[in-house]
Amino acid sequence: MYICLCYGVTDGNIQDHLDDFGNKTSSKNVHKACSGAQKPNCGKCIPMIKDMVDHHNNKITIGELSDTMKQVTAANKKPETI
Ligand code: FES
Repeated sequence: MYICLCYGVTDGNIQDHLDDFGNKTSSKNVHKACSGAQKPNCGKCIPMIKDMVDHHNNKITIGELSDTMKQVTAANKKPETI
């Protein structure tokens, strides 16, 4: 699906960039990388790119969530009384 009609950037182009750069990028950088270093023309794609970046950056796997829950549980566990 085309996200940026001005430069023909698709959701696949954006996802590939996000997979390569992970949390180290922004919507501005994604647009620049996927459009051949062009500045946004109309800018209508920027909110959708931002949503994709935010979603990607907040993505957590079940394994990561499980590990986090174990750490929180261990930290909150009361010491056993003798
Ligand atoms: S749709 Fe991306 S700059 Fe216009």
